[in-house]
Amino acid sequence: MTLSRQPLKGMRQLAPGKKRIEDYIIKRLREAGVAYGFEEYETPVLEPLELFLAKSGNELAVDQSYNFTDKGGRQLIMRPELTPSLARMVASSGELIYPVKWMSFPVCYRYERPQRGRVREFMQFNLDILGVDGLEAELEVFLVLRRIVNSFNASPGQYIIRYSSRRLASEILENCGMTEEEMTQAFAVIDKKDKIEPDEWVELVRKTIWDKHNADKIISFASCSDLDAPWLAEVAGDSKAYSEILRFSEMLKDAGISEAQFEASVVRGLDYYTGIVFEVMDTGGKNRRAICGGGRYDNLVSMFGGQRVSGVGFGLGLLTLQLFLETYELIPFGISGKHPADIFLAVYSDEERLFAVNLAEKLRDFGVAVEIDITGKNLSKQVRIADKKSIGYIAVIGPEEVASGRITLKNMTSGTETECEVSEIPLILEDRTLSGEAN
Ligand code: HAM
Repeated sequence: MTLSRQPLKGMRQLAPGKKRIEDYIIKRLREAGVAYGFEEYETPVLEPLELFLAKSGNELAVDQSYNFTDKGGRQLIMRPELTPSLARMVASSGELIYPVKWMSFPVCYRYERPQRGRVREFMQFNLDILGVDGLEAELEVFLVLRRIVNSFNASPGQYIIRYSSRRLASEILENCGMTEEEMTQAFAVIDKKDKIEPDEWVELVRKTIWDKHNADKIISFASCSDLDAPWLAEVAGDSKAYSEILRFSEMLKDAGISEAQFEASVVRGLDYYTGIVFEVMDTGGKNRRAICGGGRYDNLVSMFGGQRVSGVGFGLGLLTLQLFLETYELIPFGISGKHPADIFLAVYSDEERLFAVNLAEKLRDFGVAVEIDITGKNLSKQVRIADKKSIGYIAVIGPEEVASGRITLKNMTSGTETECEVSEIPLILEDRTLSGEAN
């Protein structure tokens, strides 16, 4: 029997060229988090199903997840997201210094139909602040988001941070006399607004929300993108959530975050959000899935008993970000082909092998990344391999090099050759990095 050459549908398989692009993205994300003092953490891939049933919502925890019963009869889930695990970790860590500012790069699993921007196994950058009740936490998270997108040289017009308030939406729906169950249905239907065609959405609202008056209110609310709209001011009245979001909008203005825009239809699909919610979208038509989604969740940590700890944060899909960057040609040219080795040592014959191996070790001690021939193929084949791998420099170790201890470095891009002492190699390569030759 011949085995299939394909991995399971939607699973994450990255050859080195693709992995280099992902690593480039991870590096930028990590740098942005570190710039604001965020620390990294890890949680398990496999979790008890109940952890996600309790607050993520049934759609994610049951319909869209990989869940199963293990040999011990436990109901488990491959994590579809990270936030409940983070909340548990915070609840069980006795001596935390608040505000907790943590970030992580989990691989998550969702049983969704694979399509552009949606796969079944994906890496998600998570960044969260815990223990801050004030809107300063939201503002800092928005600043990180803007720094992230700008660090890839995206222009403000290419993306938008859409935000709204879960609490405001709840208050307005409650004022319509909706029950908790109806409100959950209403949130689910509002969340679909920008994912399907407008007519289809209106039809869905009318089909889901039987009361015509309530359905009309939902349609008006979800279509509102002006915080000062008289209609909104009237229905929201003197609600706390309304004054909060007005204040937040002022804070964003003061901080010069002009990429942020109020959109009432942003409610996010997860049940645990309690306050400001947001998502980052491509403004062009090519990527319709959110690059990032997040919000405030003030009741998640207390689910594990103990004190109430508020939280704000986001999850950013590396795939959705990559698609956005590719759309606007923001991934540096040649990055996928850049080999990690700085230099390739070709070995003339077995006579010189020991010398070459020792030389390679010495260079590695100096911080130079070295690939050395281990095939025993003839010299021209070795050079061809190094060239095909796009390694920047090559040096042949033959009888002359062994006798003199001097090496000739060939720059594979320009073709220039430099004869030097072994100790000079790191400096020559460093010059190359400083001159921007290396990426
Ligand atoms: P989420 O909105 O479910 O939020 O996902 C956040 C992001 O993860 C999405 O905007 C998207 O970029 C990416 N993503 C989600 N599903 C997939 C998929 N099937 N394929 C590829 N990318 C995907 C959460 O997960 C929250 N836990 C985020 C959060 C953190 N909220 C507070 N802190």
